[in-house]
Formats: sequence, structure tokens, C-alpha cells
Amino acid sequence: MHLAEQLIKWQKQHGRHDLPWQKTRDPYRRWISEIMLQQTQVTTVIPYYLRFIEAFPDVRTLAAASEDDVLRHWAGLGYYARGRNLLACAKAVMASGGEFPKNREALEALPGIGRSTAAAILSSCWDLPEAILDGNAKRVFARYFGVKRGESETLYQKRLWEIAEETVPQKECGIYTQALMDLGSMVCRRSRPDCGSCPLRDGCKGFASGDPSAFPGVKKR
Ligand code: ADE
Repeated sequence: MHLAEQLIKWQKQHGRHDLPWQKTRDPYRRWISEIMLQQTQVTTVIPYYLRFIEAFPDVRTLAAASEDDVLRHWAGLGYYARGRNLLACAKAVMASGGEFPKNREALEALPGIGRSTAAAILSSCWDLPEAILDGNAKRVFARYFGVKRGESETLYQKRLWEIAEETVPQKECGIYTQALMDLGSMVCRRSRPDCGSCPLRDGCKGFASGDPSAFPGVKKR
């Protein structure tokens, strides 16, 4: 079985299925959740997400809100640029017809949406075969393929993006994306990875090395 198939099978059996934003394929809600999750843990995000969606149920409502009101709902999440970008992004979407774009280039042109966030939205809402590479996915790939940080951080990131693109499946990409995030946070943890529960153990170079936590290694400064 290919890597993607193994991950998809694992996600269906062991991954998370009940997070509030998983109940919908509305790109607006998926976008709000992805921005909140960029620097904040799932358990912290959940109540903020629910309150935010109640106050601003769609992109039109958000675009019409005041910055003060938006930031009041953001208070406590930190990284307030994310909150300001949310409002700017909602206005930009409304200015071009009110629909979220369904391609990566157009999504990435919006404030606060980087390549991985764009891919997360496209795969989770429409199953488009776009590669994510958040912190969890990076760790899973680095260990599985035995990638260590070398002298060049740029080359390291480039190599991981190549891997992410090569492994992305043409079908069920939304489940695959969630699998990378869930495996990375639940099993392939930064410290004390639970290799005994990992569906990828047999092909994993990190596991074979005897010290998976050594991958990818720390960032050089
Ligand atoms: N981290 C970033 N996006 C996530 C998601 N959709 N589910 C769980 N954790 C995440």
C-alpha cells in the first residue's frame, strides 16, 4: 500500500472525526478554523471557533463587522495580525463576488492564507489534490523519509515540499490532509512518538534508525 492509502485507512479508523469544523465543507468555516489553528492548539480553538461562527456566520457578516468587534472575538487567541487579516480577507472575498476561490493561486493571494492553509481548505472542502505542509506534516514526512535539517534551511523546506507534492493522493485528499494532521499530533509527536501505534512504522526511516525524535533535528541559526 502506498503512503497515502495507509494514512487514509488509519484516519478512517483512528483519526479525529468530531471536531466542530469537520461537520461542514463550507469554505468560510474551514478557513476560520485553519487560521485559528495556525498557532493555537485544537482544544483552545474549539470554544473560540464556536463563538466566532455564532457571531459571524458567513463571510458577508464578517466583512461588514468592525475591526473592534472582530478583535473582541479574537481576544485571548494571540497573534492579533491573524484577526486583522481575517477581516481584510472577508472584505476581499466580498469584493470579488462573495465566493471563496477554488484554486490555490487565488486563495494564496488573500491576506493571511499561505500555501499550506490554501491546500488545507481546497482538500478539506472539495477533495482537490493539494499538498499541505504544516508542522505536523513536516514531522511525519521528515521521519518517514529520513530527512534531517542540513546547513540550508531553504533546501530542507524545499525537499519537504517535494515530498508533500509527490505523496498527495488524487482521491480522498480531505481525509488524507486530516490524517497527516492527526497522525502528527496524536502519534508522531514531537517528543516521545508512539511508534507502536503508527500505521507507517514498517516503512519509516526514523523508526528504523532507533531514534525517530532525532528527525528532522533543530533549526540552525
Ligand atoms: N491543525 C490545523 N488544521 C487542523 C485541522 N483541520 N484539524 C486538526 N488540527 C489542525
